[in-house]
Amino acid sequence: MARLDPHSHTDTTQPRQRHLSWAAEVDFPGRAVDAIATLSFDRGGGPVDLDTRGLHIAQVTDRAGTALRFALGPPDPVLGQRLRVELPAGVDSCVVSYRTGREASALHWLEPQQTAGGKAPFLYSQCQAIHARSVVPLQDTPRLRITYDAALTVPSGLRGLMAAAFVGREEQGERAVERYRMDEPIPPYLFAFAVGDLASRELGPRSRVWAEPSIVERAAAEFVGVDGMLTSAEALFGPYSWGRFDLLVLPPSFPYGGMENPRLTFLTPTLLTGDRSLVNVVAHELSHSWTGNLVTNASAEDFWLNEGFTVFAERRILEVLEGPEMVALHAAVGRQALDEAVANFRDRPELTRLRTKLAGVDPDDAFSQVPYEKGYLFLRALEDSVGRPGFDRFLRRYMDAFRFQSITTEELLELIRAELPGALEAVNAPRWIDGEGVPPGAPAARSSRLEQVERLRTQLPPATAGEWSPWEWQVYLNHLPRPSSPELMVALDERFHLTGAANPEVLVAWLTVAVRSGHAPAVRRAETLLGEVGRMKYLKPLYAALIAGPGTRGLAEACARRYRKRYHVIAAAGVDALLKKSA
Ligand code: BES
Ligand code: ZN
Repeated sequence: MARLDPHSHTDTTQPRQRHLSWAAEVDFPGRAVDAIATLSFDRGGGPVDLDTRGLHIAQVTDRAGTALRFALGPPDPVLGQRLRVELPAGVDSCVVSYRTGREASALHWLEPQQTAGGKAPFLYSQCQAIHARSVVPLQDTPRLRITYDAALTVPSGLRGLMAAAFVGREEQGERAVERYRMDEPIPPYLFAFAVGDLASRELGPRSRVWAEPSIVERAAAEFVGVDGMLTSAEALFGPYSWGRFDLLVLPPSFPYGGMENPRLTFLTPTLLTGDRSLVNVVAHELSHSWTGNLVTNASAEDFWLNEGFTVFAERRILEVLEGPEMVALHAAVGRQALDEAVANFRDRPELTRLRTKLAGVDPDDAFSQVPYEKGYLFLRALEDSVGRPGFDRFLRRYMDAFRFQSITTEELLELIRAELPGALEAVNAPRWIDGEGVPPGAPAARSSRLEQVERLRTQLPPATAGEWSPWEWQVYLNHLPRPSSPELMVALDERFHLTGAANPEVLVAWLTVAVRSGHAPAVRRAETLLGEVGRMKYLKPLYAALIAGPGTRGLAEACARRYRKRYHVIAAAGVDALLKKSA
């Protein structure tokens, strides 16, 4: 057999998936999805190996209902279970009837009290990187794209949304069937749906926002600028290929800031700050419509192709909307996060390469800011080397050459060699791609606002800091030594009310330094915050600060015990790993 991807059972010598027809019913009391997946392949005959995780397979047949031979392999902790189906000669599809498992890693089932409305249950999926297999049996590798159609049956009082084109909703008494189709071929990790009490507001001709009714107005106000963002993005990267760009604001347990599900970006409600200060996350997910969803990483080993290019694109959009000074502040905060990620990986420095080797490694464990911010800096180095006009032309060429394809780092490098001769040598690309850490001489963010903040070091900021953007605050707070003096913490909190900060990025940057410095109000706020949000970007530094802070380790353990049921399984696993590492 020939593996195409270290995270999939897909065998290159076998038939390849083309289309999925999915009929599914959500069983909230049973916390399971009952489904029939019809998978079509490019040819019939011989065995085909699918990925599954925890699925209870009832039967596998051909389209006429004739049983097909199948076998489930032993469970692998990273890959899940192989489902081998024998396709008779001339049979190029299979119909799998199944029920999702109790611990389906892509699914988060929420009790009504975990939602804003408090009345209806909620369900959402999160398939990246390799969780699609826990909801659908398929070749779960971004190398093999699929189109799909779906019929999602939900309780009649709820909406079922999918990251696809809406076809229609049919009421059937106590249930309703929502139909969708995705005609653009997508990698399986972009398969996504959500079910709950959801309402929408129009944002523009191509966009609306979905959220629970009690927060939908706030969501609409926060994201009013999305149509302008779409226009700016098209001016930079070419026509938008996915028709609509809708947004879905999820309950607070959503473990990411955003997820670029096609036609329906999933977002954390922590973006709803009231001042539009976190819309860069929307710019990021929108950018994935080009870098990620059109040009896709061949496997998690080339994840930086998705995220590094997307951070670069996000900051180009931001430059148009908010100017280069703001971009410099964002890039400076990104650089701080990168240095911290590299330090956190001191025991596994191989994970600080752009191109990684992940056989046997769970992509969720390898996740860090490295592919994002080191990838961004590598692209910035190339841009600095060839000049912006030349690099812009290259970016367009890249998006055009690899549209609807999944590529490796090597394929990118070949295109650069052809289009930008000498550029790889000029920036010492091998040092970036296969070397560890951040190369010396990496592009550094410069701006006068940034320099003013950096000059302060551990001094108390002037009263004018009341006007700082959240990004200036993050640069300042992240620079402070841990621990810092308790007097500085008290003075900062008195003057700038940081424990009451509304912006979660500022709040978490503050709490991580203040908790480690033994500032009691910060410890209390950290404790409540850990029960309010499930975004991993916040949970991990907060737990790490409590673990390392003076006398707060026990509190970290208590919070983890108290709140872990509210967290997404991936987030809970991340928290457990932190506690275990420090034990
Ligand atoms: N695709 C990612 C989220 C993701 C990555 C989910 C890997 C699962 C596995 C998304 O585009 C992302 O990068 N989100 C960031 C946004 C930020 C960089 C602006 C996040 O969630 O923080
Ligand atoms: Zn991303």
